Order: sequence, then structure tokens, then C-alpha cells
Amino acid sequence: MKKAAVIGFPIKHSWSPDIHNFWLKSSKINGEYKKIKVQPEELQNFILKAKNSGYSGLNVTVPYKEKVAQICDELSGIAIKLGAVNLITFRGGKIFGDNTDGEGFIASVLNKLPNLSFENNNFAILGAGGAAKSIAYALSERKAKKIIIINRDLEKAKKLSEKIGETAEAYSLTDIKKGLKKTTFLINATSMGMAGGPPPIKMGLSGFPSILCFADIVYNPGITGFMQEASLSGIKVIGGIGMLINQAAPSFEAFYGQPPKNPEGPYALLENKIMDVGND
Ligand code: ATR
Repeated sequence: MKKAAVIGFPIKHSWSPDIHNFWLKSSKINGEYKKIKVQPEELQNFILKAKNSGYSGLNVTVPYKEKVAQICDELSGIAIKLGAVNLITFRGGKIFGDNTDGEGFIASVLNKLPNLSFENNNFAILGAGGAAKSIAYALSERKAKKIIIINRDLEKAKKLSEKIGETAEAYSLTDIKKGLKKTTFLINATSMGMAGGPPPIKMGLSGFPSILCFADIVYNPGITGFMQEASLSGIKVIGGIGMLINQAAPSFEAFYGQPPKNPEGPYALLENKIMDVGND
């Protein structure tokens, strides 16, 4: 039986097992996917033990993505750039680290907008943390026309924009209006609007007719405050569940040797989970 798990600290709230176990069942694969809380001082040992006890691989979540990048024997190009790993596979006795977050975002957008031209759009990203970084790099790989980083901490935005190169610009959140002027595609990669997180700011999107699409990486609640504001301004809206599912699909293939049979299947399952959480 092929075994995999997601590791983190805490791990209670991870929905990865729901996604992978859904796919295991619908693909009729005899496999196992668990969530495992790993104490910080146990991290390296745990990974070595998993390698030697028949695990195909592991997913890695908060707060270990950066630390695991240092533990791996080899890293993919994108994991090197991000300095962060969300997928470990064990290959020929070696620990190989990869990162599927950015491509998960791209896949979820292309699902909804298959003909999207990256070269013709100016993307603005709210945020400059781990999620924003992975999206910014993925957009840069797709040759996005412009990548505008807007963050509360301007220094962090500048640092990320310098790494991306000349297509990138940085603005402070207080200067959001300057950043949005040229934007055609807006992305929220902050925790603003997340259940239990900071509230979303009012962006005044109706004043920016050039913005055609808004994508939120927040998936709980299913319809965020930012998504509501964007919808009311006539902007096409993409929610965060797609990114969650699409970053999991390449992990599934790496662990169990085949892509999931119905990649979109977990949508309904996760939407129901969101409703349950909302009713807590
Ligand atoms: P993740 O890995 O999910 O990206 P992170 O690296 O902690 O998490 O990044 C969180 C992002 O949300 C950051 O861009 C953070 O802004 P700062 O860099 O200025 O801290 C942003 N964020 C968190 N709380 C915020 C708030 N109340 N207002 C605006 N931005 C906020």
C-alpha cells in the first residue's frame, strides 16, 4: 500500500487528507494519506523515518516549508527560488523537495479562464509572504506583463519585487490606489478576509474599470469580503478552493503514480466543509 501524509504544527485544520482520500477512493487506489503533527525538534528525524518506512512522500505545511527546504538532499528549481518546500518525495534513497503552490494557483485560474494571456495582463498581488511569493514566481515564469506587489510592509514588497526583476513593482498597502491603476488582474495573497483573520480593507474597486478579474487565495469563507466587493463592481471572481485542490493534484500523482481520476471532485466536499465550519 502506498503511504503519504501531510506534516505540520499544528495540523488539525489541514484539509489535504480530505482531498487525497477523496481521490484515492474515486481512483480505486489502495493507498493511505494521513495528517501528522510533528514537533519542531522531531522534524528531521520524522522525515528520515518516513523515508525508511515505506512512505512515498510527504506534504509540508506551516510552519515547516522553509525548514524542510534545508533538510532535503535535492530541490526543484522552483523550490530553490522560493526557499520553501510543500512536497517531499523519496527517490533512490534521497529526499527530493518541490513546491506546487504557485502552479496550483495558475492551474486554478486556467480552469476558470482557459484562454487567459499572461503576457497581456498586469497582475497585482496583495501580500508579500510565502503564498504571494510562490504566485509571483509562477506568474513570472508565465511571462506576465507586469507583477505589482502591494503589501502592508513595503520593505517586504520591495524585496520580493527585486527578486522578480524588471517586470515587478512594489507599493505599500496605503498606496494601493497607485498600484491598482494599471492592474487588470488582482490577487489577494494575504490573510485579510480569512475566517478568524484580519478583516478585508475597502479597496474601492469600482474606481478601477481596468480590473477584469479578482482571485482570492482565501477559501474560508467560500465567498470572502474581497470577492463580494469585486462581484459588486462587475469583476469576474475566482475563489480559493481551486488553488487548494490544484496544488494537491501533482502531490497525488507523485505519491500514488497516477493523476487523480476526477480532479475537480473535491470541490463539493470542501464547499460543504466550509459551510460546516461557518456554522460552528
Ligand atoms: P502565507 O504563507 O499565507 O503567505 P505569511 O507569509 O505570514 O503567510 O504572509 C501573510 C501576508 O498577509 C503578508 O503579506 C502580511 O503582510 P505583512 O508582510 O505586512 O505582515 C499580510 N497580512 C497579514 N495581516 C494583515 C493585515 N491585518 N493587513 C494587511 N496585510 C496583512
